[in-house]
Amino acid sequence: MKESATKRPLIEIRGIHKKFGSKTVHKGIDLDVYEGEVLALMGGSGCGKSVLLRMIVGLEKPDRGTIHFNGHSIEKLSEEELVPVRKKIAYVFQYGALFDSFSVRENLAYPLREHTNFSEKEIEQKVLTTLDQLGLKGTENLYPSGLSGGMQRRVGVARSIIMNPEVVLYDEPTTGLDPFNTAQILKIILKLKQQGTTSVLVTHDMHAIFSVTDRVAFLKDGQILALGTAEEIKNSKVKEVSSFIHGEAY
Ligand SMILES: Nc1ncnc2c1ncn2[C@@H]1O[C@H](COP(=O)(O)OP(=O)(O)O)[C@@H](O)[C@H]1O
Ligand SMILES: [Mg+2]
Repeated sequence: MKESATKRPLIEIRGIHKKFGSKTVHKGIDLDVYEGEVLALMGGSGCGKSVLLRMIVGLEKPDRGTIHFNGHSIEKLSEEELVPVRKKIAYVFQYGALFDSFSVRENLAYPLREHTNFSEKEIEQKVLTTLDQLGLKGTENLYPSGLSGGMQRRVGVARSIIMNPEVVLYDEPTTGLDPFNTAQILKIILKLKQQGTTSVLVTHDMHAIFSVTDRVAFLKDGQILALGTAEEIKNSKVKEVSSFIHGEAY
């Protein structure tokens, strides 16, 4: 997006290399994520999208290269030093990762109890308004096992955003979801964007890409092969990108 050029990169990814054993995943990834944008990461299965997302919250360490958040290097931080970073950058796990023995209310209250001095009344208020934003009103007393997969995913999103993070990272937030659940998740991504939140989402969902993203980065063979608006990526002349998008043999 042209206007992005004038915006400040909130996350700067430079020269990332990563191997698992003899398997090379990243071979020099450079990518900026601008403040307030929604950036999609696309690419074939196993190309390293999830690993890159996890690196941004320090769940994986690169072998080489740097990741800066707000001008501060994060790739070498210890678990303890990552605690404040993870309050600002939320990671939405692909399958929600809820606590099964906690009710929906307790799942959402957990980060607030751990990281804020909110009173019980403030916590309850925040839990209920966040559930409402995800179309989950009335589910607070249910347990994860009593929810559909789509609802579990939405509760996972609710729990991730309840601390008002600056950045939300979503790993395939709509994969496998029906249109109703997909729409609820896209709606919250857009709503957070209007409030200035930055989002990075790994997705194959072209509808999601067209409805919420500002830019799309396409990963292939350990590098960013193409970067542009959804429209630019859709019309890309790069063979691998167009075959992938148009569902041809890849
Ligand atoms: N912790 C790990 N240990 C070993 N290999 C891993 C690990 N995490 C990911 N990989 C491998 O790295 C590659 C990229 O994984 P991933 O980022 O999950 O791909 P995707 O683009 O599908 O999200 C895959 O080949 C995967 O098997
Ligand atoms: Mg993945």
